[in-house]
Amino acid sequence: MSRIHNFSAGPGALPLPVLEQVRDELVDFRGAGMSILEMSHRGGVYEQVHMQAMADIKTLLGAGADWKVVFMGGGARTQFALLPLNLGRGRRTAYLTTGAWSEYALTEAKKASDAIELWSSAGTKHDRVPAPGAYAPDPAAAYLHYTSNNTIFGTEYSRVPDAGGAPLVCDMSSNILSRPIDIDKFSLIYAGAQKNMGPAGVTVLIIRDELLARSPADLPEMFSFQKHAAQDSMLNTPPVFAIYIVGLVCRHVMQQGGVAAMDALAERKATALYAEIDRDGFYRGHAQRDSRSRMNVTFRTPSEDLDKQFVKAADASGLSGLKGHRSVGGLRASIYNAVPEAAVDALIAFMGEFRRKHG
Ligand SMILES: Cc1ncc(COP(=O)(O)O)c(C=O)c1O
Repeated sequence: MSRIHNFSAGPGALPLPVLEQVRDELVDFRGAGMSILEMSHRGGVYEQVHMQAMADIKTLLGAGADWKVVFMGGGARTQFALLPLNLGRGRRTAYLTTGAWSEYALTEAKKASDAIELWSSAGTKHDRVPAPGAYAPDPAAAYLHYTSNNTIFGTEYSRVPDAGGAPLVCDMSSNILSRPIDIDKFSLIYAGAQKNMGPAGVTVLIIRDELLARSPADLPEMFSFQKHAAQDSMLNTPPVFAIYIVGLVCRHVMQQGGVAAMDALAERKATALYAEIDRDGFYRGHAQRDSRSRMNVTFRTPSEDLDKQFVKAADASGLSGLKGHRSVGGLRASIYNAVPEAAVDALIAFMGEFRRKHG
């Protein structure tokens, strides 16, 4: 078996012990005589997996009894539309725009609510997140939405933005479980699983109970947070395989020391990688220093041609997924929780060699 260093932005690297466990229990799931892919989601064996995953997500995020975990399909992008439909129909909703994903979220919100953009980094190519005091919060908004980590541009909030008392809603797709959060500041958090939580196919929502009452009664049931929550995400057939793996990833994170350990790991990896980028001006980071992401590190070499050579040579050296997003160009190393320090060390060594050759 040979596994390469995977810097993919998503679906991203999964912990090897999780993949090995999935392999080992695939054909006969824990003595059931069938795989988890083949059994009823209403049976006791799957139900235990499902409920445990929900409980573990709450434990990892520090969410108490007044929170509900909801598993939904359709990716994080479906939530861009479902959020205003459930929480903001006919009302004003507020958005902080810090990249492509929050732009999409705002566009969808405009279709279902009176959505306003409180702040945008578009004027500086999304190289930063708002500094404290950069915008006036809207206390009357149905909610304030922000994207805690901007996967494409490589920026990240290091503190929770001010919602001015409005409920705070966060797309945490690309940095959930990588840093401790003060859950009391939030009303709803959602994340496509395929970066830090598991495979594509399930979106995880953590919703404060009091918000569930806002889902309008005339919403189609499959669009309603309230209906999904009331049925423990068994309104229809849930994405069982994805949820099972999310549960395994949660257990793995717990065994590693929880979110605090992931935080320390992210800090070590990002510090080392940015130090290499900052070494002598050969590499240039995209994000302003105080907005740098610890999950998606965006940078470039002195020319587009060298960027291309970098990606090609890196691939040949077993370093995969380093091409920047097509809308930004350059290079991007996604160093999610499951990317080991050894992979980052290998990338740094490669960057040093590449600089010596081309600098
Ligand atoms: C921050 C963020 N939000 C939303 C999405 C969209 O997720 P999905 O593909 O699950 O719809 C992505 C995908 O990369 C993302 O990085």
